[in-house]
Amino acid sequence: MSTVPRKGIKATKPLVPEPATIIDVIVETPSIRSFRLVFDDPGIMKEFSFAPGQIGLMGIPGVGESTFAISSPPSRRDYIQFSVMKTGFVTSAIHELKAGDAVALRAPLGCGFPVDNWKGKNILIAGGGIGMAPLRSLLLYILDHRHQFGDISVFYGARTPADLCFVGDRAHWEEREDIAFIATIDSGQPGWDGRTGVLPRVMEAGRPPAENTVAVICGPPVMIGYALAALARLGFAEGQIFTTLERKMKCGIGLCGRCNVGSKYVCTDGPVFSLADLGNEI
Ligand SMILES: Cc1cc2nc3c(=O)[nH]c(=O)nc-3n(C[C@H](O)[C@H](O)[C@H](O)COP(=O)(O)OP(=O)(O)OC[C@H]3O[C@@H](n4cnc5c(N)ncnc54)[C@H](O)[C@@H]3O)c2cc1C
Ligand code: FES
Repeated sequence: MSTVPRKGIKATKPLVPEPATIIDVIVETPSIRSFRLVFDDPGIMKEFSFAPGQIGLMGIPGVGESTFAISSPPSRRDYIQFSVMKTGFVTSAIHELKAGDAVALRAPLGCGFPVDNWKGKNILIAGGGIGMAPLRSLLLYILDHRHQFGDISVFYGARTPADLCFVGDRAHWEEREDIAFIATIDSGQPGWDGRTGVLPRVMEAGRPPAENTVAVICGPPVMIGYALAALARLGFAEGQIFTTLERKMKCGIGLCGRCNVGSKYVCTDGPVFSLADLGNEI
């Protein structure tokens, strides 16, 4: 049986982009910006709800749309945030957007993290680069429901200090005594007095206990590969490890077949999967 409850595609009209407006833009790093937006229809905004890990397709009319994880937490009712790395055509156009600009949004889509199944467990979060976007939503959800979870450890890695997102959040997470938060950069840099070393190595050196723990990892494929090997050495079983997968998407609702991983569709079966669900299809 799947370890992620399959309840994806919550948007009432998933193929119809709803008009929305950017209300704020946060420059996170030289290549990543966070966009806060609201649906133009107050009724849709009021009803909007999602689980951390769910995604949206944000588009600019006449340009195109792309898939992004929601990086704000479900408790945030006044805006929806996406954190976008500039990689190509659509994301470059999105990076030009300012407060007041119009976008179109299909959300929420896909399956979120099965947080209800994780109550009472320790949570280990490991995010690399823009992979921290869905994990920010997850971490903020967990902090909103802190008493429901055990120990929380968070490892966040990037190439350089300038590539670490969510500056304000990080300061807060570092100060909190009820979570262990470690940011690391790949190699030493002038002015950086934090941890250095690639994320899987720093995570393994922390020796997080596997017992009663769920590990959630998201980041570039090479990081995920090394993190999975480290988690296996630490004694984590496949059913204890969750990730979110990225594949090129078009319809977002299981119709076009563009986003398959083996026999599964990332848009409807994921993007959240446990390693036990994926088997050798990852
Ligand atoms: C489930 C899911 C969640 C995602 N969440 C985020 C997020 O939170 N923030 C974020 O910045 N990006 C996220 N992405 C990736 C994002 O969708 C792509 O970067 C974006 O679609 C690229 O569009 P483009 O037109 O700018 O790039 P293009 O001009 O189409 O391509 C530029 C380069 O990016 C590569 N690329 C395009 N799409 C993808 C993709 N889906 N995955 C990997 N490489 C791709 C292309 O191969 C090419 O090398 C997510 C993707 C998926 C499927
Ligand atoms: S994007 Fe069309 S099937 Fe997944």
